[in-house]
Order: sequence, then C-alpha cells, then structure tokens
Amino acid sequence: MANLLVLGTQWGDEGKGKIVDLLTPAFDVVARYQGGHNAGHTVYVGGRKVVLHLIPSGVLHPATLCVIGNGLVIAPQAFFREVEDLESLGVRLDAARLAVSRHAHLIMPWHPLVERAGEEGRGEKKIGTTCRGIGPAYEDKAARWGIRAGDLLDLDVLRDKIRDNVEVKNRAFGPLGLPALDAEAVYREYADWGQRLSPYLRDVSALLYERMKAGDRVLFEGAQGVLLDLDHGTYPFVTSSSSTAGGACTGLGVGPKTVHSVLGITKAYTTRVGGGPFPTELLDDTGRTIASRGDEFGATTGRPRRCGWFDAVAVRYACRVNGVDRIALTKPDVLEKIGEVSIAIGYRYKGEVLRDFPSEPWVLERVSPVYKSFPGWNDSVRKARRYEQLPRTFRDYIRVIEDLVETPIAVISTGVEREDTILLEERLEGLVDLGRMREDRS
Ligand code: IMP
Repeated sequence: MANLLVLGTQWGDEGKGKIVDLLTPAFDVVARYQGGHNAGHTVYVGGRKVVLHLIPSGVLHPATLCVIGNGLVIAPQAFFREVEDLESLGVRLDAARLAVSRHAHLIMPWHPLVERAGEEGRGEKKIGTTCRGIGPAYEDKAARWGIRAGDLLDLDVLRDKIRDNVEVKNRAFGPLGLPALDAEAVYREYADWGQRLSPYLRDVSALLYERMKAGDRVLFEGAQGVLLDLDHGTYPFVTSSSSTAGGACTGLGVGPKTVHSVLGITKAYTTRVGGGPFPTELLDDTGRTIASRGDEFGATTGRPRRCGWFDAVAVRYACRVNGVDRIALTKPDVLEKIGEVSIAIGYRYKGEVLRDFPSEPWVLERVSPVYKSFPGWNDSVRKARRYEQLPRTFRDYIRVIEDLVETPIAVISTGVEREDTILLEERLEGLVDLGRMREDRS
C-alpha cells in the first residue's frame, strides 16, 4: 500500500475534487501533474463550496503537502488569487505546505490573446477551449520558447526571455489585428510575480523522491479527464497536456514504479464542455433535467455542460489506457426518479457494431450508440450509508457497469459532502489506508 493515482475517466468534471479531498488523510502528499487553471475541482466542506483550479484538491487538510508539478502551466495571477481565496477561508498556505516546480511553464499575457484569435479563426471548427492561455503556453513549451517558473529567479534571464518572446509575438500580432506588447511592462509585472512566487519554487522531482524515500505516501492528481488527453483523447477536441496516468511520470519527474495503483473517477452519466464528438449526448428534456439537477455548469467558465447517458465503451477504453484498478462512481443521485436509464454498450457504424472506442475521431463523430436500458431508481441513494441500503435497481446498474468496463467499483459518492460516500472497504484494500482515514475523521 503506497501511492495512488486519481484521474477522471471521461471528459472531465467527474467529481475528482471531492474524492481526492476525501482520500487525502490517507496520504502525506498530493501532487498534481498536468493542466492549469482550465481545471475546476469543486470541494464542499461543511456546506461551504470551494472551487480549486491550480492548487491540488488535498489543500483543505492542513498536514498535507500540496505539489504543483512541471507538467502544469501556471498563470501567476490565477495562482495567487486562489492562494488568497483559500487564506481568506482560514487555509494556511505557506511554502512548507505548497511547492511549485521550477520547471512548470508560465502563462504569459500573450497566451490568452493568441488563443482567442486562434479560436475565432477556426470558425465552426472551434474547440471551445477555456481561453485561459493553456494551449498556447504548451505550444511555446514544445516550440522551446516557453518561460519557466524557475526563470523568475534570475531577473537578467527573465528580461532576455521576455524581450525575445515579445519580439517574435509582435511580428505575428500585427496580421492578427492584435495590439503590440510592451516587453518592459511585461517584465516588470513578472518580476513582481517572481518575488512572490520564489518561496514556493522547488525541484519537485527531488522533493518527491526524498519524501517517498522517507516513507511518505503520495496521491497523484490528474485534471481534466482521459478523453481530453492530447494523445489518447478525442483529438483535436482535447486539452494540450497528458491527463492520462502516464502524465504523472513526465509531469512530476517520478519513475513509473512509484505509481502503485490507479483510481478512476467516473460519473454515473456523461458530460462534456466545449466542442467535439459525444455519442451519448441527450439533446432532449432528459438531458436538460440531468444538467439542472447535476448543476452541470463549468466550474471554471460557467458554461453549460453537455449531458448524456453513461458510455461504457468510452469508460472501458479509459480503464485500459490508464490501467485503472478501481472506480469511484459519482453523482448517481442526479439520476434518481428520472425513469428508465440507459448505458451505451456499443456503437453502430456503417452497418457494424463497434465494441471498442474508435481511435479515429471522425469515426466517433458518425457513430450512433447501441443502448441497454434499465428501470431507474426512485428511492434516494443519498440516504444510503452502506451498499446494501442502495436501491436494488441502482445496484443492478452498478453491476452492469462493472461488467462492461471490466473494472470493480470501490467508492460510490451519493452526494456532495464528504460523508455522502460509500466505501467498499474490501475493494480498497492495498490502495488506500482506510485505518488512517478513519483516525483522521475521529
Ligand atoms: P483548454 O484546456 O482550455 O485548451 O480546452 C480544451 C478543451 O478541454 C475544451 O473542450 C475545454 O472545455 C475542455 N476542458 C479543459 N479543462 C477542462 C476541465 O477541467 N473540465 C472539463 N473540460 C475541460
């Protein structure tokens, strides 16, 4: 029993925030490995809603070290906004509790501008990004133009890099109709951020190595979801980083053998924000009911999420690509009293039935789902504290999902609060130290 990786198995917004927050007492460190403030992880504690974008979801537990890996892209203003919001809620966030990789790339003022112009230029084919500058920051990283958090530590290096970048960006900005950037103004702004950020900056790979060597347990936290992964998602309607389990190694500088098991967070239905194929999308009243009951609005942008039935083809694929050991199923309460519920068990395409998730997105765009339907559940799942107390029809739904995605469900989240959770303890053995979690609660 040691380190656990937690990620979303759909298109994000599966409810990772709550599950990471719940499991954190069993770990010493929570380390996020990719994405930026495009993510939104919602945590409810004592009726209070806290939305986290950059800072790992373990932050509400004072004994936990939170780590932001090199795989992230960081907007300093978003980082400090979040630090200040958390501090105003009484969460202490000094450098002893929060470490930021010196190799994380910075989101610069030009990144959101370039992104907005790029999205407009795509017209009908726009991706529907969060316009936070995430994609262009990763583009600059791959193009070897990026400015890293560690560059803030040497003002000469920072000034040079900003000057070179602004020269190149300004050449591109004219034809895009964007105003020229002032390198000196950007330098002054980022030099100030550098002063504030420098206490948090660390060699995260070395820090994690030392902590693990000393016996500490790490929870690796993904953002977005598997189907938004740059390589394994529904490209090009994806984010720009590696949200799959492999991203933890590159995004934190840890070896693959440090990831001992993987917990996939899976919503009892499917949602997606932004453009791209979504075979089980419901454009009818049922879809609208799920959206309003599930409060399905983007935690970052407030955009309405598209809603649809559970897609077992997609989740089985996600379990395979990430080696998911166990699933935490979230938000089944949203489907209460909805009538009959359906699960996609295959896709119809050109007269054939596909059982596996198609690797070409243009195939996914043209499939129609093959559904298996079940009687829904009218009793409240929220009231249940043990598995046996869950409505029988919902337990049948769980078993069908497990069979179809070939992965056992070990956690059932029945509501937003920490206590609205059923842990199937024998299925978590070896993954999570439940004794330690219980000690923390008592
Ligand atoms: P980007 O990450 O802002 O580049 O957006 C790329 C795609 O990923 C868009 O469809 C976004 O709506 C989606 N996306 C990014 N972050 C999240 C998230 O945390 N939850 C759900 N969708 C996301």
